[in-house]
Amino acid sequence: MTGSDRSTQKPIRAGRSPAPFLKWAGGKNALLEQYQPFFPERAKTYYEPFVGGGAVFFHLRSRDFADRYCLSDINEELINVYRVVRDRVDDLITLLKRHQQEHNREYYYRIRAMDRQPGWPERDPVERAARMIYLNKTGYNGLWRVNSRGHFNVPMGRYRNPAILDEPRLRAASDALAGVEIAVKDFRAIAGEAGADDFVYFDPPYVPLSATSDFTGYHANGFGSEEQRALAEVYRRLSAKGCRVMLSNSDTPFVRELYAGFRIETVQARRAINSKASRRGLISEVVVLNY
Ligand SMILES: C[S@@+](CC[C@H](N)C(=O)[O-])C[C@H]1O[C@@H](n2cnc3c(N)ncnc32)[C@H](O)[C@@H]1O
Repeated sequence: MTGSDRSTQKPIRAGRSPAPFLKWAGGKNALLEQYQPFFPERAKTYYEPFVGGGAVFFHLRSRDFADRYCLSDINEELINVYRVVRDRVDDLITLLKRHQQEHNREYYYRIRAMDRQPGWPERDPVERAARMIYLNKTGYNGLWRVNSRGHFNVPMGRYRNPAILDEPRLRAASDALAGVEIAVKDFRAIAGEAGADDFVYFDPPYVPLSATSDFTGYHANGFGSEEQRALAEVYRRLSAKGCRVMLSNSDTPFVRELYAGFRIETVQARRAINSKASRRGLISEVVVLNY
C-alpha cells in the first residue's frame, strides 16, 4: 500500500472527475448523457458485473451515487489492473514511465510475449498491470484479445505518440476506486448478492446485430445465446428481489424477446457497423429497465 489508506472511500476532489483509463470495446463514455435520466437517484450498493472500461462506474462514483460499490468481470488481467490502480498507483506509474521511455516495435513484441513465459501468472501484479495498460495504449485499436492458450495476440497499433502514461487520470481513478470491492467473477454470481435498494448495471458483450431470435452462435468472446438467456434469467431474479436493474444491449428481436415485459428504451450509439472504421453510423441500442 502506498501513501494513504485505500480501504475506505475518498471524497472526489473538485476538478478531478474520474474517467476510464483503458480503451475498452463497447465503452460507454459517449452514452452517459443519454443514460443519465435512466439512473436511479441513489442506491445502497452499486454492482457492475461486466465492468470493462468502467465508464458508468466512474460517472456514478463521481456523483456519490452509492454507499458501496462492487465491480467485477471475468477477465483476470483486467481485474488485476483495477486492483493495482486502487492499491499501488505509485508503483504502477513508475513502471509505466519505463514503458513510455522504451516503447518501440521490438519492445512491444517483447512485452507482449511475457505471458508465454513460465510463471507469468505469479509475477508481481504491478508488473502485470503495467503490461496490460501499455499493450492497451499501443496495441491495435486498444483491443484485448487472447488465443486459445490465453496468450495476448494483438499486433502493435499505428500510433505516432501513444499516451502510455496519463498520470492525473490514473490518480483520479485510484482515488475513485478506494474502498471499492473488485473481483473476478462470472455475472451469474450477482444473482445471490444484490438485493432490495441495490442497483445493478449490466453491460454484457452484445448480441450480434445480425442475430435472429433463434441465434445459437458462439462468437469469439464465448458469449452466445446461452449466456444471453442466463443473463435474462439473472435479470428477472434480481428484479423479483426488488433490486433496480439496468441493462444495455443491441436492438435486436432476440434481445427484445428476452426482456419482453420490462421497460425497453432506446439510445443512439455511434458504432463501427462494419469492420472499416470509416463506416461508422448511428445505431439504436436498447436499455432495459425494471423501474
Ligand atoms: C461490453 S464490455 C463492458 C463495457 C464497459 N461497461 C465499458 O463501459 O467499457 C463486456 C465485458 O464483459 C466481460 N465478460 C464477458 N463474459 C463475462 C462473464 N461470463 N461474466 C462476467 N464478465 C464477462 C468482458 O471481459 C468485458 O469486459
